[in-house]
Amino acid sequence: MPEILALYAPFDILPSVSELQPRQTSPASTACLVYEDRGQLATQKGLQADTIPPVEAQSRWAMLCHGSAPELQLASHAGGLVVAALGALENHAALAREVGLAATAGIAEVLLGQLRALLATETMAEALLQLRQRLKGYLGLIVHQLNAPDELYACSLGWPLHLGVRNGQLQLCGSELSLVRQLCSQTHTVQSGEVLRFGKEAPVALHGDGSLHPVALLPSSQQARLPHFMLEEIYAQPGVLASLASQEVQGQSQISPALRQELAGISHVLLLACGSSFHSAQIASYWLETLGGVTVQVELTSEYRYRDTQPPLHTLVIAISQSGETSDTLASLRHTQAQGLQCSVAISNTASSSLVKLARYHILPSAGIERAICSTKTFTAQLLALYQLALALGRARGRVSAEREQEAREEMLRLPALINATLQLAPLIREWAQRLARQQNLFVIGRNIHYPVAMEGAFKLKEVAYLHAEGFPAGELKHGPITLVDGSLPVVACLPWNLHAEKALANLQEVRARSGEIFAFTDAALAPVERFHVIRLPAGLTDLSPLIYTVALQLLAYYCAVIRGNDIDTPRNLAKSQDSEIPAAAG
Ligand code: G6P
Repeated sequence: MPEILALYAPFDILPSVSELQPRQTSPASTACLVYEDRGQLATQKGLQADTIPPVEAQSRWAMLCHGSAPELQLASHAGGLVVAALGALENHAALAREVGLAATAGIAEVLLGQLRALLATETMAEALLQLRQRLKGYLGLIVHQLNAPDELYACSLGWPLHLGVRNGQLQLCGSELSLVRQLCSQTHTVQSGEVLRFGKEAPVALHGDGSLHPVALLPSSQQARLPHFMLEEIYAQPGVLASLASQEVQGQSQISPALRQELAGISHVLLLACGSSFHSAQIASYWLETLGGVTVQVELTSEYRYRDTQPPLHTLVIAISQSGETSDTLASLRHTQAQGLQCSVAISNTASSSLVKLARYHILPSAGIERAICSTKTFTAQLLALYQLALALGRARGRVSAEREQEAREEMLRLPALINATLQLAPLIREWAQRLARQQNLFVIGRNIHYPVAMEGAFKLKEVAYLHAEGFPAGELKHGPITLVDGSLPVVACLPWNLHAEKALANLQEVRARSGEIFAFTDAALAPVERFHVIRLPAGLTDLSPLIYTVALQLLAYYCAVIRGNDIDTPRNLAKSQDSEIPAAAG
């Protein structure tokens, strides 16, 4: 029987697959339990050195936890129980309380506490099956008991855990599927809710009725692959958001204490960005106004760099750029610095970027490398980081109470599972794409915070599907664009059931009255009627609802592009970071 390696790969590991070579410290027959970067993990996760099992503990398994995975949590007990976990646990606070831990305890610590309580009366298999029923969220976990060295357990709740055979060894990876397929000749994806046991025998899935079911590994070559990086990146979003949410909730916020202190004196916010990042700035402006109670200005950087506006001195400048290298955004940030605005935050996916170096503070949403030109996972990660910043601003300015902050944290923890549920609607969205992809023109509409969501949806349809799509605030339709609506111009609507829904419905009535066909994304139980199609998105979010609608629109743009036969990952005429200035001709 080959050894098993529990191998967690961080999201940013894709370019350096070689780093994932498992490091074994003893002959293959008696692999050791290895905690890579033990010191680093101990410091980062606040674990006491004496709670970490001895490196040389004899075990059948090697558990290689990659130290650079920021979202990886590891907890162990002197009794020899080890839990590794990734993800977001929605009922974190309640589960922590039950086992006498603070709400800020790490997920792995909470799971460890829960498991220890269950193990007082149950076997490990029964304890895990019971624990699984109590968890709400989006996570993957691995459990190992040093006093049962032959056994290892794994469980997924939506989190992509993949089992693979590599060089004759069985490995368990919590990472992107493409990486696992690159590494392994045979794979099996652990289904959500499945508890797997590995032992001397072949791996089995444990069912609630006590029955055991063999796990089938299929050759990677026979399995469907995600055909484009864009789709992989769309599917990576629950994991990216789970990491960002749990970091914030567990007291590892990206917002530094120094920045929090400066936020108290802020009365004005200036957001600078272009492309998709501009839409994330527009969406964030609603959060900053409502939670922060400040005046917000959102500017396109290709314009702002040449403007003479003079924002007040107590302005927080937020420069947003996925790449951190877009020249207009850099130039606009320099422009504000020359105007004397010193309090600036860069939000970028690239830690070493020029923008991060230029701003006084930075927030790194750490969505991992995005290979498709169109922003998907970096866009939603930016949004969540901006939401966290808006909350911090509200707290610093005394506008957000501790209770309101707690509600917001709970919403953040609910988000990944709801994004995952949205991804399950892909077949329905693909059906809409079949009908929309051949249109000449298309409107995407929304109200309030879902207006910039509609703008971003239309932007994606242009960028990747090359469709002439325009994003509008629903209330603006009647002031001009309605003249274009007829049976040949479909309208895609973002229609969350909130305070603005009734007005948005009235706007849609005007479209139907002109024979327009409506494709509505909504979380309400609306019945489809003639020329009014409905896809019901998951409900349960208030502030963060824009992320759900964004993901649905990403899928719509993606499938339209596929149907139109476009180059998905490198659309024509686009580049990842842009210099909008065309150099003057020489001479
Ligand atoms: C390019 C891309 C857009 C992107 C924009 C801003 O134009 O085509 O998809 O949104 O740059 O990029 P940034 O890296 O500054 O967010």
